[in-house]
Amino acid sequence: MSVGIDKIGFFTPNKYVDMVDLAHARNEDPNKFLIGIGQTAMSIADKTQDAVSMGINATLRYMDKIDKDKVGLLIFGTESSVDQSKSASLFVKNALNLPASMRAFEVKEACFGLTAGLMMARDFVRVHPDQTAIVIGSDIARYGIKTPGEVTQGAGSISLLVKDNPSILELNDGHSDYSEDINDFWRPNNSKLAKVDGKYSTQVYLDFFSKTFEAYKKQKNLANKDFTAITYHMPFTKMALKANRIAIEGQDEATSQRLTDKFEAAKKWSSLVGNIYTGSLYLSLLSLLEHGNLKAGDLVGLFSYGSGAMGEFYSGNVVLGYEDQLDKSGDEELINSRRKLSIAEYEQIFTDSLADPQDGVALLSDEKPGTWYFAGTKDDIRQYKKI
Ligand code: COA
Repeated sequence: MSVGIDKIGFFTPNKYVDMVDLAHARNEDPNKFLIGIGQTAMSIADKTQDAVSMGINATLRYMDKIDKDKVGLLIFGTESSVDQSKSASLFVKNALNLPASMRAFEVKEACFGLTAGLMMARDFVRVHPDQTAIVIGSDIARYGIKTPGEVTQGAGSISLLVKDNPSILELNDGHSDYSEDINDFWRPNNSKLAKVDGKYSTQVYLDFFSKTFEAYKKQKNLANKDFTAITYHMPFTKMALKANRIAIEGQDEATSQRLTDKFEAAKKWSSLVGNIYTGSLYLSLLSLLEHGNLKAGDLVGLFSYGSGAMGEFYSGNVVLGYEDQLDKSGDEELINSRRKLSIAEYEQIFTDSLADPQDGVALLSDEKPGTWYFAGTKDDIRQYKKI
């Protein structure tokens, strides 16, 4: 029985910062951000877009193409949670009128959350082949104004529909994992901004990639050349480029060129959107599918990483006709129609979005009609509305 990804929905808010503008404002050489970090732009969420609203908007991208009554599981992976108790899944379920007879909950392990959900969804569909599962990763990466991490911020959500006989990517059996209790990136309950040891984090990420990639190849009796492409968790594209360099090291020319070309295709969306934490690996998968000229049966390796830290490598095969399931022009429109912010506007929006909502004060959104947004709290209950 084949189980895998049948639909991919993506959302990012309607504002962005250009990295050249940010470099000038921070007295940095623009090439440090464009080449050294590998980022061209980053999406900015104002106070009306949060993990929940972005997750609803990402799922809405494919909602009219699925049978709602078959959804038996809804998992929400995030590290930008809006409540310590109630899961974001329930807000999404309510907004999208999904059936009451489903299991709905939230998971957390930094940027690994969506992968954790995807693996649970795969097992769920294997046991319940007549049902489907929705898995969402949704986050806002905030490090702080004038910090080294500022250039690696972003906001967005990816939603996946998992089912049997999937139309996009069949997930293969097996996976290799590696975990350790370390402090490379974390966000304590008393902070709205992430704490990070960025250089250490890159070292650990690369070490976990090498370990899980080697273990996976051994487990499945595969060589580097067997992969058409490898996609990576991509908090900023330079980090993933370093992992791809490990993958092509010592390979024949054709393998090295292919993995390099596919990496270029996979990094396109992330370089424009920035870090979306849990969704980052899957934004790079979406970008690969939309720009990588893949063929049916192509083997794609996926490296998931969550700080703290947890790494997993697994793979999938591309399904015939996968292009018909994607909405490349819709994704382009979402990214290209964002409004460019001045650095002063960005700093104001950033500061405003850190403040807790004033209870009873309604918020208004400037997103396009049909978009869901956070409309403020009433009696400390979060309100989500559609424009
Ligand atoms: N032209 C081209 N490249 C340049 C450059 C220029 N003018 N100036 C600097 N660079 C390169 C550096 O050589 C370096 O490349 P390298 O990584 O290949 O060595 C890169 O740009 C970054 O420069 P660096 O001085 O290391 O940047 P920094 O100290 O400002 O911090 C991060 C960069 C990534 C460590 C920081 O942004 C960060 O901590 N981000 C958060 C990371 C994170 O979220 N980790 C957890 C998620 S898994």
